[in-house]
Amino acid sequence: VKKNKDAGDVPHIRTPIVCVLGHVDHGKTSLLDRIRGSSVVSGEAGAITQHIGATIVPIDSITSMSGSMKSLNISIPGLLFIDTPGHHAFTTLRARGGALADMAIVVVDITEGFQPQTIEAIQILRNCKTPFVVAATKLDRVPGWRSTEKSPFLKSFGNQNERVTLLIETKVYDIVATLAEHGFSSERFDRVSDFARNLAIVPVSAHTGEGISDLLMVLIGLAQRYMEEALTLTVDGPGAGTVLEVKEEKGLGATIDVILFDGTIRVGDEIAIATTDGVSTTKVRSLLQPRPMQEILIEDRFLRVKEVVAAAGVKVSAPGLDQVIAGSPVRVIGDEPEDVKASIAREMTEINVTLSPEGLIIKADTIGALEALCKELSAHEIPVMRAEVGPVSRHDVIETETIKDPLYRVLIAFNTPVLPDAQDLLKEPAYADMIQFFTGNVIYHILEDYLEWRNNLKR
Ligand code: GTP
Ligand code: MG
Repeated sequence: VKKNKDAGDVPHIRTPIVCVLGHVDHGKTSLLDRIRGSSVVSGEAGAITQHIGATIVPIDSITSMSGSMKSLNISIPGLLFIDTPGHHAFTTLRARGGALADMAIVVVDITEGFQPQTIEAIQILRNCKTPFVVAATKLDRVPGWRSTEKSPFLKSFGNQNERVTLLIETKVYDIVATLAEHGFSSERFDRVSDFARNLAIVPVSAHTGEGISDLLMVLIGLAQRYMEEALTLTVDGPGAGTVLEVKEEKGLGATIDVILFDGTIRVGDEIAIATTDGVSTTKVRSLLQPRPMQEILIEDRFLRVKEVVAAAGVKVSAPGLDQVIAGSPVRVIGDEPEDVKASIAREMTEINVTLSPEGLIIKADTIGALEALCKELSAHEIPVMRAEVGPVSRHDVIETETIKDPLYRVLIAFNTPVLPDAQDLLKEPAYADMIQFFTGNVIYHILEDYLEWRNNLKR
């Protein structure tokens, strides 16, 4: 990975990280593919860099898509897009105890409207205070829509008959109404006058490319504003990142896919990581990037690089990575090794929630997921007594049973398995009759299930 050439003027602003969230099959990956594909028009095939788990689109490629963007004075080097396959990836992606993403795109299929995972996405973004834009996609699927390849939204919209125009207005209004229910004021992007107050909804189609340049323009606007306040994000200094995934690679053993959000990481650097046995250190053996598309047939799928600068996605190969916890921090050790290790240890235990002496017991797969669920529960004034990462154990079941208030004698497994002996215990009448057990992978469903059960109990 090279430093972006534009970074010369403003070396201290790093590439903002943009996460794409939304309901399953609503078109997140297709939208990213289109953004990637469209931005290749600049002619520089190498301009877009494919990263581990992410793609960098340099600012030149983005601004070349629209005449009006060329005149903007833009100081960010580009955008790093991360596709989150499940919405949980977003909560897993954390940086310094908060969300890793600087911004987000919430994708919603315009023909289907908001779905449970879309709602969950906006709740998480609200809790993390992450700025975002809504992409109302699959515009070409609206019955009667007449497409004009790659056209800006308003231009295509102007070509539609009255019935289609009305239908789109209705669909967009439905989105506005749903967002309002969740406390957001929003408007179709071309009607937004104050982007700091109103969320922008951009109708797009990944298949025809319509509205894509509008979407990028709104994103750049958000990024600019955000970055002006966030000058602390740099490409200098020791690297800091988040483990996206731990993966076994042929010939390399266990590797970690990392999103580097700050600083630089180099081959030979000593790094600190969080493993199931606590914080440990190791030395970077190699840094790997995917090969460019045209070289895909080459046996070795990865390109070795000497250093990587934030923000970027990179595969790190080093000894002793097999026990690393996904979603945990990675830090290059500089002058203060003990401080770095201590800060990682702290981050691993520091859950940003207030626990109550009496309340529910929650288990989840990652700290981020745990935090997201706890925040939603506390927004409904539901107290939590214990919140931990990991599968549901026998001990959890036993402890739940001892909770005095029946309204709180509740165990929640969020996106995490129940160990066999805990399962057995949950089936025993002594526990089954006493404990209410909820499991699921959508926060909002769990919350509704709990509230419904509690209402019935109170009656
Ligand atoms: P998951 O990663 O599984 O959650 O799905 P996703 O949100 O990444 O959706 P994906 O991009 O895989 O698209 C799902 C389906 O919708 C695919 O069949 C796409 O071809 C289709 N699709 C996505 N965007 C558009 C669009 O703009 N227009 C039309 N007509 N189809 C689309
Ligand atoms: Mg996808």
